[in-house]
Amino acid sequence: MPIKSRIRTIPHYPHEGIMFRDVTTLLKDAVGLRTTIQEIVNRYRTSNIDIVVGIESRGFIIGAPVAYALGVGFVPIRKPGKLPAETIGCDYQLEYGSDRIEIHTDAIRKGERILLVDDLIATGGTMEAAVKLIQEIGGEIIECCFVVDLPEVGGRDRLEKQGQKVFALCQFE
Ligand code: PRP
Ligand code: ADE
Repeated sequence: MPIKSRIRTIPHYPHEGIMFRDVTTLLKDAVGLRTTIQEIVNRYRTSNIDIVVGIESRGFIIGAPVAYALGVGFVPIRKPGKLPAETIGCDYQLEYGSDRIEIHTDAIRKGERILLVDDLIATGGTMEAAVKLIQEIGGEIIECCFVVDLPEVGGRDRLEKQGQKVFALCQFE
């Protein structure tokens, strides 16, 4: 069941020149959604993951069911001002703009084995910021997992150069 064929491409969204890889068409497809979650879960079933961390907002859609199926907890990394308790944050550049993400300082205990999940990696700026946050509060990152990799934008190389393991279910050139 090809996951890639269920992902729609919208040219020039949200800006001229961006080929937007739209996972909503994958998510609304019952087989597509189930296969996506199962493939990720199968990869990490024996990895002794303690916590799945998902990045707002599309990372929540993938990360929460993965955590549920692995039988572990889920921690959100959120856009600024959304988390109610004490947070740490990190600013980063996007393929089309800049942003900031935050995590609760007490969300992860030192040494916990973390699976980081998002729907897509482009520049890697978002995941790099997430990695910094997890490292700052003492988590051990097992892998950064995505549904889609855009290798030409360079995010995977960027993360791997920093020593992170990266996995994606499919790639778009
Ligand atoms: C998208 C996507 C990733 C990020 C990837 O999120 O879901 O989180 O961009 O880009 P990068 O590798 O260049 O950092 P976006 O910030 O658009 O937010 P959304 O999930 O709320 O749509
Ligand atoms: N986030 C950053 N770049 C993207 C792209 N090309 N398609 C979908 N989401 C993205």
